[in-house]
Amino acid sequence: MNFPIELINKLKSSSRVAVLTGAGISQESGLKTFRDAQDGLWAKYNPTDLASPEAFARDPKLVWDWYAWRREAVKGVRPNQGHYALVEMENKFLTFTLITQNIDGLHRFAGSKNVLELHGNINLVRCSECGTYADEWDEESETVPQCKKCNGLLRPDVVWFGESLPRAELEAAVNASRACEVFFSIGTSGVVQPAASLAHAVRDNGAVVVEINAEETPLTPKANYFFQGKSGEILPELVKLITEF
Ligand code: APR
Repeated sequence: MNFPIELINKLKSSSRVAVLTGAGISQESGLKTFRDAQDGLWAKYNPTDLASPEAFARDPKLVWDWYAWRREAVKGVRPNQGHYALVEMENKFLTFTLITQNIDGLHRFAGSKNVLELHGNINLVRCSECGTYADEWDEESETVPQCKKCNGLLRPDVVWFGESLPRAELEAAVNASRACEVFFSIGTSGVVQPAASLAHAVRDNGAVVVEINAEETPLTPKANYFFQGKSGEILPELVKLITEF
């Protein structure tokens, strides 16, 4: 990949960087995207019909089982070179915020520290009534496992369609995007709000926007730099250039 020298110099002289990632960064780990994750038994369901409070109210066991199946799939998955390159980047900049829409937990698994999970984490489970997190639950149960405290039904700690994003994370993400000198949008189609609007807010603020994606997106015409390809290949190359003297 040919990286313009102005971008390398800009990165070398910057101290505040924010990164937004989406499903694309986990693609090279072998993780299917939300919409692709419809194998066998689940092929007849539309994921948007399973990932909502209404679906859970209608048929909690169906929704629980779908997430249990996805949780199992995530268990066998490991971070890829793209995730690890972002860990190296975090060490390079004074302030580095990694905002992700992914629920797979792979950024933390790789070693990233300042991670804002806007859509939650599939590995965590909480009570749908009182919000208490569960340490353990019976994965084999015939019915949806219940909260030990209030008997409410347990659910995955992810943001469903129609639900608001966690307020503290969203606020931190907006602040980091406003304050950064360089903003990366990586492996996200940029269509889901409000994450998508973060990049636009950054651009309005005069920071440099760098997009890395396998395909062009609605953000591409507004980005200062667009690198087309796999994040697991492009990111390590870029990080090498900015970390060497
Ligand atoms: N490297 C870089 N980009 C890639 C790669 C790769 N190896 N593979 C795929 N992509 C890009 C695709 O071109 C696409 O633009 O990743 C993007 C994935 O887009 P989506 O599947 O729409 O994922 P995302 O943007 O994370 O979706 C946002 O929508 O479905 C909901 O809640 C779900 O968090 C998700 C949100």
